[in-house]
Amino acid sequence: MAGRNILITGGAGFIGSHVVRLFVNKYPDYKIICLDKLTYAGNLANLKDLEGRENYKFVKMDICDFEGVYQLMQDERIDGIIHLAAESHVDRSIKDPFTFARTNVMGTLSLLQAAKLYWESLPEGYEGKRFYHISTDEVYGALKMNHPEGIEPPFKTVASSEGHKAYGDDFFYETTKYNPHSPYSASKASSDHFVRAYHDTYGMPTIVTNCSNNYGPYQFPEKLIPLFINNIRHRKPLPVYGKGENVRDWLYVEDHARAIDLIFHEGKIAETYNIGGFNEWKNIDLIKVMIKTVDRILGNPEGHSLDLITYVTDRLGHDARYAIDSTKLQKELGWEPSLQFEEGIEKTVRWYLENQEWMDNVTSGDYLKYYDEMYNL
Ligand code: NAD
Ligand code: DAU
Repeated sequence: MAGRNILITGGAGFIGSHVVRLFVNKYPDYKIICLDKLTYAGNLANLKDLEGRENYKFVKMDICDFEGVYQLMQDERIDGIIHLAAESHVDRSIKDPFTFARTNVMGTLSLLQAAKLYWESLPEGYEGKRFYHISTDEVYGALKMNHPEGIEPPFKTVASSEGHKAYGDDFFYETTKYNPHSPYSASKASSDHFVRAYHDTYGMPTIVTNCSNNYGPYQFPEKLIPLFINNIRHRKPLPVYGKGENVRDWLYVEDHARAIDLIFHEGKIAETYNIGGFNEWKNIDLIKVMIKTVDRILGNPEGHSLDLITYVTDRLGHDARYAIDSTKLQKELGWEPSLQFEEGIEKTVRWYLENQEWMDNVTSGDYLKYYDEMYNL
């Protein structure tokens, strides 16, 4: 597809920055407009290597600013939207649910309505347009841990060379009923419903994908993996919620970005695709892998940092297990994860250890000041 003008929201965040980078590098004839409010989670340092590129533009804007978004769509003749902007951290949603409803629900609605008004005003209408909404597996609720020691899964292992274990005999499918538990997942579920409603009511060409937990470079260090890598390095306690038995299904962020590229271009309108690596880990086992990897790279004796593990009060409403079945995406569009988990975690640990300056800026909040000055924001 030639010459598209694509709006990527939340592009200065973790996953968004990987998606922006992939599109700017892969599609020189597209114009990539990265829209981001630059909340605490947004950081232009994540996109520093793209500064000055001809097919890339950054716009600081709140997705809730309907007039601003509508004007931007007209000015830039946007014909494709990849919507990642969101409040994304479950623990914050438990403390401050209103912010999640505002950005995730009202912000998505504002974007949908701006796209509707702009696209419906064009002679070709919705022809060639696409509104792609990035959602999460958490909207499906939680799966049972009815095999705590793990069982052989019914599908091919794609993400781990050691062989994949499933901790229950059920999975999240595209047809699984929504059953969100946290304010975060409730807000994402609500936004998914709005996106589908805009297709069903107005005929907007929408797509929704639901992905499992991502890991990799540029993730804000409030999330498990970057937080723990940084804490191990600085010999700070590792706060493990509950017994550390909860299970998450981990996917390397660049594999998610590749799936987004594929689905944006080849996915069927009005469809839902699940994205995941068939890569379930109990938190405590994953934490031990991180400890082992960081200790080895830093030259510490094996087991050196195990004493940092500190069991703390569980997260309220902590979902027991997430496990995505991504067979539909693999069969219909031929996607599969490119990185095995061992490689992904090694790359990730090395990235955080080698980018201590990024980590220090993010944790000190200095980056906000720096970028305000740099971009006259
Ligand atoms: P993130 O918190 O790292 O980034 C979110 C970005 O959105 C930030 O740059 C922030 O500044 C921006 N933003 C927040 N509110 C905004 C607003 N009102 N207007 C404009 N920009 C705003 O999040 P992430 O982990 O990169 O997640 C991106 C998307 O992917 C989210 O929609 C999330 O629900 C979804 N998702 C995340 C994961 C994961 O494991 N991280 C998995 C599946 C789906
Ligand atoms: O499943 C996809 C979701 O994954 C995304 O939609 C969310 O945006 C993303 O934040 C992530 O949600 P989780 O709650 O699963 O991720 P988090 O990194 O916060 O926690 C991972 C697991 O580790 C979870 O079971 C809680 C636990 N945990 C987390 C932190 C931050 C701890 O035990 N201690 C911690 O300090």
